[in-house]
This record gives sequence, structure tokens and C-alpha cells, in this order.
Amino acid sequence: MSKYILPVSVFGTVFGCAVLLKNHVTGGRCKSKATINGKTVVITGANTGIGKETAREMARRGGRIIMGCRDMEKCEEAAKEIRGKTLNPHVYACHLDLASMKSIRQFAERIKKEEQRVDILINNAGVMRCPAWKTEDGFDMQFGVNHLGHFLLTNLLLDKLKESAPSRVINLASLAHIVGKIDFEDLNWEKKKFDTKQAYCQSKLANVLFTRELAKRLQGTGVTVNAVHPGVVATELGRHTGLHQSQFSSSVLSPFFTLLVKSPELGAQPSIYLAVSEEVEGVTGQYYDVMTEKEPAPQALDEEAACRLWEVSSRLVGLEEEEQASKLNPPGDDQSNTAESHEQSPEQEHSAAQL
Ligand SMILES: NC(=O)c1ccc[n+]([C@@H]2O[C@H](COP(=O)([O-])OP(=O)(O)OC[C@H]3O[C@@H](n4cnc5c(N)ncnc54)[C@H](OP(=O)(O)O)[C@@H]3O)[C@@H](O)[C@H]2O)c1
Repeated sequence: MSKYILPVSVFGTVFGCAVLLKNHVTGGRCKSKATINGKTVVITGANTGIGKETAREMARRGGRIIMGCRDMEKCEEAAKEIRGKTLNPHVYACHLDLASMKSIRQFAERIKKEEQRVDILINNAGVMRCPAWKTEDGFDMQFGVNHLGHFLLTNLLLDKLKESAPSRVINLASLAHIVGKIDFEDLNWEKKKFDTKQAYCQSKLANVLFTRELAKRLQGTGVTVNAVHPGVVATELGRHTGLHQSQFSSSVLSPFFTLLVKSPELGAQPSIYLAVSEEVEGVTGQYYDVMTEKEPAPQALDEEAACRLWEVSSRLVGLEEEEQASKLNPPGDDQSNTAESHEQSPEQEHSAAQL
């Protein structure tokens, strides 16, 4: 028995210290006390995890909060809880399925029609390591939701963001981008064997490349955009991974894992910092590791790839076609400006397969 005492007590001490230190090691809290009364914040995937805690803190700081979620029951419940806890009545649940371009367009139309301004857009929703699922429009689920969905949404809200400048866009990326590769020949995993880890990493690299290219295109508009890795956070993100699926790991390992990683409340601090902090006013096109500006991986600094990804994404979501149409149709002739008129053309439906 005595031979176990030393290893057990060493393990206990190390584990205890790790738990005590984790909040400091993982970045702490946003120090800014800035309030956002009169500002409108749009947050995607806000019914749980980092998004919900971000929405809660933004509401606490006095903003008008639009929570864009695909499950209205969960979204209404989260919005109600946030209204109750923060006593801010301006927290709204709104349907948004990022796996559907039609839904994204309807959501954006609603925001443009009903909201006077959009000061902060937090592209938070994400899906990680799911099976080889496709979005409604035939894109790989992780590339479609994590990158293309937010690419389309941001572009559709750009006029609003510009009108509300100075305004901010925050893209939730991940440290996982460092092993990501953009396969321009097969973005949607139609030619090669599906690798769900690599699909996630590709989508997170796309988040950083999109951030950098968007920042370039927004120079001089007063709209800034930054990408962030929030740290390792105990959320539902791992729902498709082994840790959550096996009985042993979800009941035995998961509680240990939860003790060692950040709470969603702390995981939301980097998004809050980028959304409100005076320190990052005017900062754009950067990548943050928690709350520290860092250089992203070399492949995320490839300007040619960022520009190419923009053009391909623009074509896939139908924005390129619209730009051409709007050059032909003078402004004011808004026949093509409703969500309903953006049903996919057969060319678009097949464009995912071609790339
Ligand atoms: N947790 C971490 O350690 C970590 C690390 C690095 C980066 N991140 C990034 O942080 C972001 C937030 O993740 P999280 O950890 O808070 O994960 P989470 O708890 O799983 O929350 C993800 C949110 O995204 C929503 N979502 C998924 N698919 C959607 C779709 N098609 N349309 C609209 N919403 C959709 C989910 O809605 P449902 O509840 O309806 O599924 C949920 O609200 C993600 O972008 C993730 O990649 C997280």
C-alpha cells in the first residue's frame, strides 16, 4: 500500500495545482469596463458555450443583443435566461442556420430591415469533427458552417457595419489552424478520403485567411476585423468526438478534462476583449491567442491564398454573381434583393461539387 502513497500524492498535488492555476495560465478576464449602451451586437451560435457567455456579458454591458441560432427552443431559453440574469430586456432570439444559405440570407435581411445599426458582429458558431455531413447547399459541414456561412453573413451585413462605424467583426478561429491546409482542388472533401480533423483545421485556417483579406478590403471604412483562438474551453464543441461518445470517457475522463480547461465564461473573455476593449480600437487583420496578439501560422499569412479563398468563397455563396448583376442593374431596381430571390441557381448548386 505504502508504495502507492508517493505517486498518488504527487499526482494529487500536480492535479490540484493545475486546477488552481488554470484560470491564470489560460488568460484571465477582459479588464476593460467599457459599456455598450446604444450598440447592437449580433452573435452566432449563442445558445450555448462561448457564444452564450459572450451574449450574457454583452447584455450585462448594456448592448442590444441579437442571438443567431439554429435551434429556436434553445435560443429562446438562453435569451430568456440572459434577460433575467442581466435585467437587460433587449436580448433577442433569431433563427439562423449557417448550414443553409437561404437561412443566412433571411437572417441578414431581417437584421437589415429591423435593426438601425450593427456595431459588433461576433462570428462564433462552430462545428468540430462531425461526420462527413453536407450543408443544405452541398458544402462540407465544417467548411460550410465555420467558414462559408460566416463569410456570407458578414458580407451581407457589411453595409450595416460600415454605416455604424467604428464597428468590429470578431471571428472565432482556433489554434487548430496551424495544422490546417486549404485544398483548393477539393475544399468539400469530394475527391479524397474524408478526414474530419483536417476538415476542422481547414475551416479554422479559412477563418484566419478570411479575417486578413476582409481587413484589407475594409481599410478606411472604420470597420475592423480580428480572429481569435479562445483557449481550450469546456463546451459542447467536442460533442462529435470520442470523449463525448464513449460511456467511459464521458463519465470518467470528461469530469477531469472539465476541471483542467476553462469555463465557458472565461472562454468568452477573448471575444469580449476584442469586441469592447479600448486597447484594440483601430486594430485590424490580427490573430489573437486568447487576449494576446500573435503571428498566426505561415499558411495563414499567405496573401495569395487569402485572396483566392475570398474569390472562391464569393463564387460558392453566390455573391460574385450578385455583384455582376448589380453592375448591370442600376441601384433602386431591387428585384434581386430579397432572400427569396436568392434560391440557388443550378450552377451554384453544383459549384460545390466542381471545386
Ligand atoms: N471550446 C474550445 O475549446 C474552442 C477552441 C478553439 C476554438 N473554438 C471555437 O469557438 C467557437 C464556439 O465554440 P464552443 O466551444 O462554444 O462550442 P459549442 O458549445 O459547441 O457551441 C457552438 C455553437 O455553434 C452553433 N452551431 C453549430 N452549427 C450551427 C449552424 N449550422 N447554424 C447555427 N449555429 C450553429 C451551436 O448550436 P447548437 O447548440 O444548436 O448545435 C452552438 O450554439 C467555435 O467557432 C469553435 O470553433 C472553441
